[in-house]
Amino acid sequence: MTPALVRTPPTPHPDPWRDLDAQPNAEKLAATLELRGRTPTQARLRRRFLGFVPIRRGDHVLEVGCGTGVVLRDLAARVGRRGTVVGVDRSRVVLTAARRLCRPEAGAARVTLRAADGARLPFAAGRFDATLAITVLLHLAVPLPVVREMARVTRPGGRVALQDQDFGVVAVAHPDRELTDRIMHGVATRVYAEPWSGRRLPGLLRDAGLERVRLRTDVYQDTGLEPFTKTFLERRAENAVRFGITDAVTAQRWLDGFTALVARGAFVMTMNYYGAVGVRP
Ligand SMILES: C[S@@+](CC[C@H](N)C(=O)[O-])C[C@H]1O[C@@H](n2cnc3c(N)ncnc32)[C@H](O)[C@@H]1O
Repeated sequence: MTPALVRTPPTPHPDPWRDLDAQPNAEKLAATLELRGRTPTQARLRRRFLGFVPIRRGDHVLEVGCGTGVVLRDLAARVGRRGTVVGVDRSRVVLTAARRLCRPEAGAARVTLRAADGARLPFAAGRFDATLAITVLLHLAVPLPVVREMARVTRPGGRVALQDQDFGVVAVAHPDRELTDRIMHGVATRVYAEPWSGRRLPGLLRDAGLERVRLRTDVYQDTGLEPFTKTFLERRAENAVRFGITDAVTAQRWLDGFTALVARGAFVMTMNYYGAVGVRP
């Protein structure tokens, strides 16, 4: 793999998803959402989660932190023409992409997009049958106000659904275990306020007053170094250099270790995705 392993200029926060529009490479980062969304394993685990919520035909649904609209398109197909799908995001860059990518499709609901912060949703109480935040809360320093807002705009009996990765349980094969641990753990703890984001979701739903909370854990598994996984590991290597966890030569050697594993059919990466759903009393 050949990423640009050079020290990058400081950005406002090491987690670019906190404030995407402030990033010099915002469009490129937005494109990675589409790359992830189209990875077959990712598409499968996203659809399994929507079934678990469940999202039904005719539902009125809100996605908070909708990005470029990967989930919105699945939602629109699932709820059908009698349903409605609304996406909000703080980033104008992703909303511009989502407007282009979420075109009306036969048999699917129309998708409406709005610029808004998840902690201040511009909707009346009880407006939606279901509200979702998928890989959003891990990027927030204080996620509870967003979950409370989601609960407010969900009707009594409706569902609030959260899904996040958990960077405490990423398993990746590599000949140098000590270096791999140092990079994976060191980067995750410097970038995210709560790297164990996935496993805290049921607690957040309960703290926001939701009932009948259920959890479903799914695994992203890659044995071929998919483009999404490759980008994920390259980003970890870049950040390891940026945070002084390792030097550029060692980081490149680490990436080359994965390429060697792929060549002999021995590459494995798994990452847990935790999906939690609660019912609004
Ligand atoms: C990793 S992306 C996930 C996008 C989409 N849910 C998906 O799974 O493809 C996280 C998104 O959350 C948005 N975001 C972060 N903080 C937010 C906030 N406080 N309110 C609304 N959106 C937010 C970011 O701009 C970004 O588009």
